[in-house]
Amino acid sequence: MDLKIVSTLDSSKTLYTSQFDEHYHSTHGALNESLHVFIKSGLHHCNLNSIKIFEVGLGTGLNVILTYLETLKKEIEIDYEGIELYPVRQNIIENLKFDEFVPKEHQNIINKIHESSWDQEITISDKFKLKKIHSDFNSFQFEKKYDIIYFDAFAPDKQPDMWSIENFTKIYKSLTNNGILTTYSSKGIVKHNLRSAGFKVKRLPGPKGKRHILRAIKNKQINFF
Ligand SMILES: C[S@@+](CC[C@H](N)C(=O)[O-])C[C@H]1O[C@@H](n2cnc3c(N)ncnc32)[C@H](O)[C@@H]1O
Repeated sequence: MDLKIVSTLDSSKTLYTSQFDEHYHSTHGALNESLHVFIKSGLHHCNLNSIKIFEVGLGTGLNVILTYLETLKKEIEIDYEGIELYPVRQNIIENLKFDEFVPKEHQNIINKIHESSWDQEITISDKFKLKKIHSDFNSFQFEKKYDIIYFDAFAPDKQPDMWSIENFTKIYKSLTNNGILTTYSSKGIVKHNLRSAGFKVKRLPGPKGKRHILRAIKNKQINFF
């Protein structure tokens, strides 16, 4: 991928790819967007102590880092898996300067995350396990269940196949009951496809520069009678 580093309005950096004509995060604030969409609207809505997360589109690893930082604040254990078809090179990651928002004593985890081997479960800390999967999500088959999905593909008009009913159905089946999917897009087609896959979909206020985002829940009612 042909990648360019771009500064965003909250002074954090992201990437631009000419292949998809897309930014990896909002240009109104990459850090702010990730915190809002995935941490506050996803992770903070899960009240389990041991949480399994799957990310679609690992990209720069920003969501991994932000999720890891949550394990320093709360009594939670995280088992994190993320899929990526086009891994970002280490020298590009270094130039994104994620260390600017990570406390000094924990900055070593940025490299630990990016240097960790693909397709193997790696222990990042006693509370955080990571498996980076180098594969195409469209042909990926889940083998276990997750509590949260961070759905962070490129925009639906650039990659409609990623946001298909088929992919959302696959995700729905791989979620635990009351499992959550969060995503930055609130487009009509995304809501429609999530609902067709069985999700209950809620529109939430978006981060700066974006009116709405979505949180979708798998909520299967159990009938006793
Ligand atoms: C919006 S960016 C994700 C940003 C990322 N979450 C981050 O924090 O940097 C979308 C990501 O999806 C990846 N991607 C695109 N098509 C994919 C596919 N078919 N399977 C897996 N990953 C894919 C892209 O390479 C890119 O890293």
